[in-house]
Amino acid sequence: MTVIDGKMLAAEIREELRVKAAAFRKERGTDIGLAVILVGEDPASQVYVRNKIKACEEVGIKSFSYHLPAETTQEQLESLIDELVADKNVHGILVQLPLPKHLDEKSALKRIPAKKDVDGFCAENVGNLAMNRETIVACTPFGVMKMLEKYNIDPSGKAAVVLGRSNIVGKPMAMLLLNANATVTVCHSKTKNLKEVCSSADILVVAIGRAKFVKADMVKEGAVVIDVGMDRDENGKLCGDVDYESVKEKASYITPVPGGVGPMTITMLLYNTILAATRG
Ligand code: GUN
Repeated sequence: MTVIDGKMLAAEIREELRVKAAAFRKERGTDIGLAVILVGEDPASQVYVRNKIKACEEVGIKSFSYHLPAETTQEQLESLIDELVADKNVHGILVQLPLPKHLDEKSALKRIPAKKDVDGFCAENVGNLAMNRETIVACTPFGVMKMLEKYNIDPSGKAAVVLGRSNIVGKPMAMLLLNANATVTVCHSKTKNLKEVCSSADILVVAIGRAKFVKADMVKEGAVVIDVGMDRDENGKLCGDVDYESVKEKASYITPVPGGVGPMTITMLLYNTILAATRG
């Protein structure tokens, strides 16, 4: 069994991105800029945003950070987005999700044009992905594809099962695997025979947000297991959606939590921001 080292791969890619960001600065006489908007006090989101800003600094991307109070109105949020859309120094805009319940996420995200949509969430970017055209791809599934590539795992002809159908991970993950010629099944809370379907996977990607949900009896011998979860176990310790200790005995490749998919998500955000700036 091989542990897929997301931390190491992320560091490797960030080094390349640092060179690209420096070249951009030299050629254009200006920094690449990423605006990050966080609304409210969700503790997990605060950690994610802090890590994103820190990663920007590491590779030489200028970050513009906006922490708005939980009671921010839709108008206030959208007028900030509009300002950032118009700002030449901002090449990418990220609104950290989830937003507080009273805000309309769809309406807010709609204001970000495709070329500044470094999360790859807008209809144009998602549509391009669905049609297998070059586009900005959602950071987490994009990071997963980079991991597979790095470890020479070619999805072509393989049975890939994606557990979870979110717009952020499950759906774009399924499309990327399909574009890479895998035979893809997407499972969710209404799926029947979940154990059987998961056990048929050569590549199993799990993104459901439930601590240690996937046990060894749901995994085929020799499968590649990618764990997108960031959960807490019964002792409050960080863990994934996969029961790592038992599943690692069956998997040929597995991602740990932490140190697996997480660092790759942030790295692909930096990648997308540089792509957005370079395309202009
Ligand atoms: N919340 C959880 N993951 C993400 C992500 O990739 N992007 C944004 N904007 N919010 C998130």
